[in-house]
This record gives sequence, structure tokens and C-alpha cells, in this order.
Amino acid sequence: MQFSYVNPTLIHFGQGQIQSISSAIPADNKVLVIYGGGSIKRNGVYDQVAKALEGHQWTEFSGVEPNPTKETMDKAVEIVKQQGIDFILAVGGGSVIDGSKYVAAASHYDGDGWDIFTGKHQVTSAVPLAAILTLPATGSESNMGAVITKAETQDKLPFMTPHVQPKFAVMDPDVMKTLPEKQLINGIVDAWVHVCEQYLTVAHDGMVQDGYSEALLRNLKQLGEQFESRDNDAWRANLMWSANQALNGLIGSGVPHDWATHMIGHEFTALWGVDHARSLAIVQPSLLRNQIDVKRAKLEQMGKNVFGLAQSETLAEETIAAMEAFYQSLGVTTQFSDYQESKQQAVDAVLSQLEMHGMVALGEHQAIDLAQSRKILELAIA
Ligand code: NZQ
Ligand code: ZN
Repeated sequence: MQFSYVNPTLIHFGQGQIQSISSAIPADNKVLVIYGGGSIKRNGVYDQVAKALEGHQWTEFSGVEPNPTKETMDKAVEIVKQQGIDFILAVGGGSVIDGSKYVAAASHYDGDGWDIFTGKHQVTSAVPLAAILTLPATGSESNMGAVITKAETQDKLPFMTPHVQPKFAVMDPDVMKTLPEKQLINGIVDAWVHVCEQYLTVAHDGMVQDGYSEALLRNLKQLGEQFESRDNDAWRANLMWSANQALNGLIGSGVPHDWATHMIGHEFTALWGVDHARSLAIVQPSLLRNQIDVKRAKLEQMGKNVFGLAQSETLAEETIAAMEAFYQSLGVTTQFSDYQESKQQAVDAVLSQLEMHGMVALGEHQAIDLAQSRKILELAIA
């Protein structure tokens, strides 16, 4: 265990907190409000934001799509540059927040923003930004990561820099009331896999990281089991806070990380538009079965401490089956069958994307090469 840790995002959590942005954004700042396809116009969030910004000079950019594209976000970069925007306020889910992070970084660069993903440009500064979260899932509201798609080439790639860490995040669970069932389920699954990517690796001595990860997994399991009776303040608040804590840097400090499920899952989204969380549920069980020998100790620990299973020779296998059953109980499929051509062509398509993106040594041991990915995909694609 050796690490430096800070999470500098100030969180305003609870009902009615949107009004706190009035004083949280400097009064003389020119603000760009960025949002998605319009859900915030229908559920009153836009009106609350407009009211809170009454004393500010602000303008807006809308139309950020789920799995935000560089092509769309470059239009916002233009606005920031032309109008001298000082502060970006992202109002939405992970897509709007990630897209805004790209805008914040690309606006401080004269070249093509995609250079951030190819390594040609190192981000050294960005327009300050903050988030009003409307969909708990990604943790993007208080972390320094973002995932952007270049539609032209079907590339979906992440970047990370402390310069795009939100200055503050507003998390009002009431905004979740208008979320479709599908998005709430996506939130549970995405947060669950975020914990797994930082927990389900190899045995280590990080008692805090393991214990807190297990608490989050038990919460998410319970929230999933209570899905039918979810219409209450406590359920919403607990999901919102659990999803945030799953990817805010804390449980991942000083421990090994995996992230192979995410990197392979991103290709399903890029190729076939599979929802992010659903791509994870497709990849993860097959990946865990492929990696069961190296992950056996942690799978057994998870089986006991999260699912309450008894020690046995097949505990690791039972834990994977329990996870798969959990996803399926939420109506989330754990194999992909939505391809047009043959299974072999689908497997090859994902593999060639992985190769093109340099995703050839994934997992906590960098042991998932293309040959292992092929085996995983043979299981994950029906
Ligand atoms: O665009 P609008 O109209 O707002 O509708 C959105 C969108 O269609 C809707 N929605 C959001 N809040 C709502 C609402 N509808 C009704 N009521 C509300 N309160 O939900 C739809 C999906 O939104 P999206 O932002 O795409 O979902 P999510 O938060 O799951 O974000 C997914 C994106 O985040 C990336 C994913 O790859 C994907 O691109 N991730 C970002 C991460 C990060 N920055 O740390 C980590 C994750 O692993 C993930 O990769
Ligand atoms: Zn995720």
C-alpha cells in the first residue's frame, strides 16, 4: 500500500441542493450549461438550474448523446473558445459529464481534441467544471475520467487527468424520479462492476479497500433485490451515494486494478451501441470464468462476504454464478446475441477493435492478450 489520495470535488448531497450552485460558481464567471437530449427540460431540473443561475451570465449547449461523441462535443469547444466561457456546468448523467470534461480539456488546446486520446497532447489545464448529476452510475461527477467516442472511426476511448475533476457535484436523489427503469438498472450494474474492477483481483493487505468494497457490493445487491419497492427516498439516496463511492478513487487507492471488462465492453458499445452497463454484464462473467485461477482467492472472499456462501471447493465458481444470477434477476442478459452476421464475425470484430486500440495486455497481470480475449468472447457472444 503506497499511494497519494485526494478527492477534491465538493459534494452537495440531498434534496433541494441544486440551488447551492448560485454561490458555488463565481459570480463574475461566464457559464456554459451543457446537457443531453432534453430529459432535464421535462423533469424540472433545467428550471431549477436556470433559477439558481439568475445572477450569472450563462448560455447553453444541448444534444449530448448517450456515449458522447467527439464530433458533437467539438461544437461546444467552439462555443467555449469563441465566447470566452470561464466555467462549464454539466447537467446530466455520465455521458453529459464526460462530454463536458472533454470540452473543458479540448478548449485549452489549439489542435484536434482527439490528440488527447492518442497521447499527442498532454492535458495541462482545462476550463473549470462542475456537475449536476441526474443519473447515478458512472461516478464521473467526482472523478477525473471520461470516455469519448469518435463516431467516424467507432473508437471509444478513455482519458484521465486531474484537470477535469469537477470542482463540485450536486447530487439530489429527487432527480432520479424520472429515470426509466432501464437506466436505474444500468446504474446498479455499472457501479457493481466498478467495485469489482478494483476489488476482484488478487489477495492483498488492503483491509479498508476490501471491507469498503464489500460494503458497497452488499448495498448494491440489496438495492437490486429491493428493485420492485424502489420508489422511496432512501432507495434513491443509497443508490446515488453507493454509485458515487464506487468510482471516486477511494477503494482503488493502493490496490491492484483490473478494468479488462470495461475495455472489452467499450468495444461492444462502439460496434453495436450496447448500453455501457449492459456491455459489462455481457463480458464480466465470461472474463471471470477465463481468469478464475488467478482470481480464485478474491472470488471466494466475495462469495463469503457479499453473497453469504459457504466455503467449498467450488466457491469461486458459485460466486460467478451468483453474480450472473444477480444480473439476470434485473433482466440484464449476460451473453450477446444482437449481432447481424455470424458469431465468428462478431468475435473477430471485437478482437480487431481491441488490437487497433492497443488493448492487448489487459487485467491486473496484463495477462489478457488477444488470445485470452478471444476465449472470453467465445463464451460471451452467444
Ligand atoms: O440525454 P438525456 O435526455 O438527459 O437522457 C439521458 C440518456 O438518454 C437519460 N437520463 C439521464 N438522467 C435522466 C434521464 N432520463 C430521465 N430522467 C433523468 N433524471 O439517461 C440516458 C443515459 O444517460 P447516460 O449519461 O448516457 O448514462 P450513464 O450515466 O450510464 O453514462 C454512460 C456513459 O458514461 C461512461 C460510459 O462509457 C458511457 O459513455 N462512463 C464513464 C465513466 C467515468 N467518467 O468515470 C466510467 C464508466 O465506466 C463509464 O465508462
Ligand atoms: Zn462503467
